[in-house]
Amino acid sequence: MLIVLFSNRFDRFRMMRLSLLLLLLHRPACSLLLGWVDSPGYPAGYLPHASLNWSRCAPKGHTLSIRLMHLDLEESKDCENDAVKIFSNGNLISVLCGGREFEDLESNVNPSLLSSPGGCLSLTFHSDYSNTKRHTGFRGFYTDQDFDECNDDPDNACTHFCHNHIGGYRCSCRHGYYLDGDNHTCTVSCSEDLSGRHSGDISSPSWPASYAENANCQHTLSVEPTLQLEMHFSEDFDVEQSPDGQCIDALTIETRNPSRILGPFCGHSPPPSPFLTHSHHVKIRFTSDGYGSNKGFTIHFKTRAKVCPAVVTPYSTATPQQPEYHEGQTVTVTCDLGYIINSEETRTEYVAHCQNTGEWTPNNICEPVDCGVPEIPEDGILQLVYSDELNTQYKDQIHFTCSSKYYTLEGDDTYTCSASGDWVSGGDKKEMPKCTEVCGKPEKHHASVARILGGRDATMGEIPWILLIKWPNRGGASLINDRWAVTAAHVVELVEESSLKLYGGLVDGRTISDALSNVVVMESEKIIIHPNYITGIPLSERTNFDNDIALIRLASRVNFGPNLLPICLPEVNSVMTEGEQGTVSGWGKTESRSASPSLKYAHIGVYSLAVCANTPYIPATDQHMTMTANMFCAGAPGKDSCQRDSGSPFVSPMLAEGNEPYFLTGIVSWGPPCQQRQYKGYYTKVAGYVDWIKETMEQQKG
Ligand code: ARG
Repeated sequence: MLIVLFSNRFDRFRMMRLSLLLLLLHRPACSLLLGWVDSPGYPAGYLPHASLNWSRCAPKGHTLSIRLMHLDLEESKDCENDAVKIFSNGNLISVLCGGREFEDLESNVNPSLLSSPGGCLSLTFHSDYSNTKRHTGFRGFYTDQDFDECNDDPDNACTHFCHNHIGGYRCSCRHGYYLDGDNHTCTVSCSEDLSGRHSGDISSPSWPASYAENANCQHTLSVEPTLQLEMHFSEDFDVEQSPDGQCIDALTIETRNPSRILGPFCGHSPPPSPFLTHSHHVKIRFTSDGYGSNKGFTIHFKTRAKVCPAVVTPYSTATPQQPEYHEGQTVTVTCDLGYIINSEETRTEYVAHCQNTGEWTPNNICEPVDCGVPEIPEDGILQLVYSDELNTQYKDQIHFTCSSKYYTLEGDDTYTCSASGDWVSGGDKKEMPKCTEVCGKPEKHHASVARILGGRDATMGEIPWILLIKWPNRGGASLINDRWAVTAAHVVELVEESSLKLYGGLVDGRTISDALSNVVVMESEKIIIHPNYITGIPLSERTNFDNDIALIRLASRVNFGPNLLPICLPEVNSVMTEGEQGTVSGWGKTESRSASPSLKYAHIGVYSLAVCANTPYIPATDQHMTMTANMFCAGAPGKDSCQRDSGSPFVSPMLAEGNEPYFLTGIVSWGPPCQQRQYKGYYTKVAGYVDWIKETMEQQKG
C-alpha cells in the first residue's frame, strides 16, 4: 500500500501523473505469462491417442521459458511412440520421452527451453494407440522474464552506459556527451556556424585535452565574395592515423566556388600555413571514431583579398605568367597543342580578365580536338578495328583493316588524331588508306604442264579472272577488280550499255542456269569502248582491229572467292618480246566443236614482228587485215585461240606454279580461221592501254 502525504497542489498533480503511469505500465491479468503446462490427465496418467498443442509468445524485451518438473512417458526409439516436442519460433529445440529425474531435467533439459526476446515457445504432446503400462505424463511451469539486453545482447552497443529495464534498455552518456540520433552513440556537440566572422579560432573538441570519440563536428565559415578564407594551423597537430598512413580520424576542408574537398588531414604534421582556400565559403569537418586519445588541432582563420589562380583553365598556358593575379589584370590564354576553346570553336587563344571574386572571365575551357569518325566508303571493304568504343580525340589512334584476304591495305593501318583535327599517318599524311584487290594470284595453283586449238581443260579456280559472255556474241572478258572487266571492243560494240551478262566462277559454260553451280552472274552498268576503235562499219569494210579493247563497269561490286579473282594489269607500256610465253584461255571453237562447253587453255609464245607483219587473209573481209603497233601476235604449233574466244585473256607469264602473279598482257582480238591451221592469233597489247583503263575507271567513280 502506497501512503503519500500531499504537501501542496503541485505534489498532488505529480502524484496523479505517477498513478496514471503505473496504471499504464500494469499489464492486464489475462496476459500475465506464468502457469502450468501438463499432459492430459496428469497426474493420473494419459490415455492412448492423447494429444496437446500449447503455445505462448513473450512480449518485446522478454523471453519465455519452460521448466519441466516431471517427465514420465512411454520410452521408445527416437521417441516415435509417445513424445513431447518443444519448439522455439517454430524450430524444434527438444524431443523428450521415457522417464527423467528432476535433477536430470534441471541440468540437461530446462536450460535450453528458452525463447528468443519477444519470441514464441510451443509444445506438442501426443501418445500412440497403446500403452503397455500406465505413465503419469509430464508437468512444466512456464514464465516470462525480462531479457537483459545490456549483458546478453551483442547487438546492443551503447557506446557509454547501458541501462536494462523490464521490457527494454536505454543508453546514456558521460558528462559532456549527448546521445546521438541512433540512441546508442555518445557524441559531443561541436558544430558551429561562424558565418560573417572574419577571424577566429576553431579547435578539436576539448582542446587542448584529447578530443572526444565519435565526434562529428562541422564549422561553417562564410564571408564576402571578394574575400577568401585563410587558415593557420598550430604546430601541435595530432589526429589519429593508421601505421599505413590512412586517416582513422580526419580533418577535411570543403570549399564552395570553387567546390573542392581538401584533405583528409591527419597524423602529426599540420597542413602548411597560411593555407589559402581561394573561397569565401568554407566548411571545416572533423570526425573521430570510438577509440584513441589524440590531442587534435587548432586553427586560426582570417581573410584576405581573393586572387585569380595561375592556371586559368586546364590544358592551357597564360601569358604573362605569374603565380597569382590581382583584380583587373589581363592574360592571354593559349590552349595546349591539340586543344581548342569550348570544343566547337577553332580558336586556341583568348583574353581573360581577373575579377575581384578571384574568377577569370570569360570562363572558357580548352578541350581536346575531336577528329570525328573518319569517312570511309560504305562498301564495307575498308574497316575500322575497335573493340567497344571508337575514341576520336587528339592523340587517339584508329586502326584499319580490309574485310577479306582478297584485298590488301594500301597505306598505313594506323592513323592518329592530329592537333589540327585531321586523321594522319606517318606524320602528316591525311589521305585514308585503301583496300586494293589482290590480283593475279589464283588460290589454286596451276600444276600441269601443257582451239582453243590444242588446248586443255582448265579446272575450277585455275583461271579465276576469266568471265564468259554468251550473248549477243559469245566471247570472254577478264575481271580486273571488284567493279570492272575488260574485253575486246568488237565483242560488245553493238551491245546496249546495261544489257550484258557476264558469268564468272565457272569452267563449264553449260552450267550458267544451274542453281547449284555457284556461277556468279554479273550485269553491266556501262560499256566503254576505246575511243579510237572504229565502230559501226560492216565487217566486210573493216581493214583493221586497231584499239580492240572495251571496259565494262559492273552494276554492283563482285564478291571474290577462290573461283572468282581479278587479274593484274601489266606495267604501263611494257613490251611483248619475241618468244615470251603466256597462257590464253576461253570457251571458243575447238578442233571438234564450234564452241567449247568447257574452259580451255593453251600455252603459246609471242611471235616476231616479221612473222606477225605477214598478216593472214581473212575470208569474211576478203582481204589481209592490217597489223598495228597496238597488237602482238602469238601461237604455238597446234595451239591458237579461235573464233568465239574474242575478248578472252592472254596472261603472262605462262600459268605454272611459282609464276604468280599473272598479268593481263593480251586480249584475243582477231586471226585467220582456225581450220587454216596457221596457229597465229592477234592480240590487243594491253600494256598500251593501262593509262586509259585507269583514267576511265577513275572518271566513273562516285
Ligand atoms: N575474232 C575472233 C572471235 O571473235 C577471234 C579469232 C582469233 N583467231 C585466231 N586464229 N587466233 O572470236
